[in-house]
Amino acid sequence: MSTFQAPKGTYDLIPPNSATYLAVREAIAAPLKNSGYGYVETPGFENVELFARGVGESTDIVTKEMYAFETKGGDKLALRPEGTASVLRAALEANLHKGGNLPVKLWYSGSYYRYERPQKGRYRHFSQVGAEAIGAEDPALDAELIILAHQAYRSLGLRDFRILLNSLGDKECRPVYRAALQEFLRGLRLDEDTRRRIEINPLRVLDDKREAVQEQLIGAPMLRDYLCEACKTYHEQVRELLTAAGVAYEDDPKLVRGLDYYTRTTFEFVHDGLGSQSAVGGGGRYDGLSEMIGGPALPSVGWALGVDRTVLALEAEGVTLDIPAATSVYAVPLGEEARRVLFGKVTELRLAGVATDFAFGGKGLKNAMKSANRSGARLALVAGERDLAEGVVQLKDLASGEQTPVALDAVVEEVRRALG
Ligand code: HAM
Repeated sequence: MSTFQAPKGTYDLIPPNSATYLAVREAIAAPLKNSGYGYVETPGFENVELFARGVGESTDIVTKEMYAFETKGGDKLALRPEGTASVLRAALEANLHKGGNLPVKLWYSGSYYRYERPQKGRYRHFSQVGAEAIGAEDPALDAELIILAHQAYRSLGLRDFRILLNSLGDKECRPVYRAALQEFLRGLRLDEDTRRRIEINPLRVLDDKREAVQEQLIGAPMLRDYLCEACKTYHEQVRELLTAAGVAYEDDPKLVRGLDYYTRTTFEFVHDGLGSQSAVGGGGRYDGLSEMIGGPALPSVGWALGVDRTVLALEAEGVTLDIPAATSVYAVPLGEEARRVLFGKVTELRLAGVATDFAFGGKGLKNAMKSANRSGARLALVAGERDLAEGVVQLKDLASGEQTPVALDAVVEEVRRALG
């Protein structure tokens, strides 16, 4: 074992399991690419102020979980804890919203960092695929995003997930509700920390998992009863569109998210096989975020799905993805001359688009054939001196063991035929 280990709360993606992660990323991205979302990539760190203002000064993410640091040049930066603020910052900076083509629809995939207490499904370095639709207020856009996430999970073969849906109201109705909730909460028997939370972020108190708190919350005012007409109508339309698309959801009037920028539609995808870290993805509308970070009014909506937790969900359901073998052909040279000739054929096959690997390191036949089998290849190309003297190599079907000589200049053609 080496002296170094991956830092606490992190882990490495290593073959063969890493192939599942790649496949999950691709499966989540596929419906987005198919629906007009363009790829965006932003830096792994940003000005710390972007997250403080965007995600919210009072959130756990900003107060406790951010990897914030000062550079040698004195810049105050933070590793990104999430993607929405960065993507919106990038869109504003590039003036994408001024192209007269709203909404600007973007998708992304990358690493995010939160200094959390590590446990299964909760890491300090994790991976998300996300989507943001910037600059349009349209219930069909909220519905589209939820439908696309649903489609992604279904395409992976997941079944035991649920969609929780809520509306958090807007700048008209939420403050009225907030005040009513604060008044209710101030009358409860709560600890110091929670009392402080009532003043800063009362909605988060509803999310308290402790039974003693939950018991007291019975009878608390619910946001749903405070929604203004515009928010009610908007939410009703989102629900109707989801129902029409055959996407089942559960109304969860207590759903509160850990980021402050949400307005109106909020949702979470939860998986029932994951224990306490059950949220595999989440998102919602953030109509005020652009203005919070110094931009114009740009009502927007988006989500991010956690790749790590989606992989855990697959494991929990016993789903194995059908990942094609990385290698189709494995070349096994016997002797120096064969090494030279077969290596040339390997390059030729690769250029022709056939995934090919080679027995490096001068292995003997037995070891080389073991590697060929392990590679998952369907065919082996084997050649020794006698074959070369006859101008052929042996094309071996690794499943049946059947072997046929193939003329050297017909290798690419014959391999292609054999692979079908
Ligand atoms: P979030 O709910 O904080 O939302 O994160 C989205 C997903 O990322 C979670 O549901 C979870 O699967 C995964 N995740 C978060 N933290 C961790 C962690 N410590 N370890 C493993 N997985 C984790 C956002 O980040 C918003 N930016 C989503 C959004 C986009 N809202 C609008 N647009």
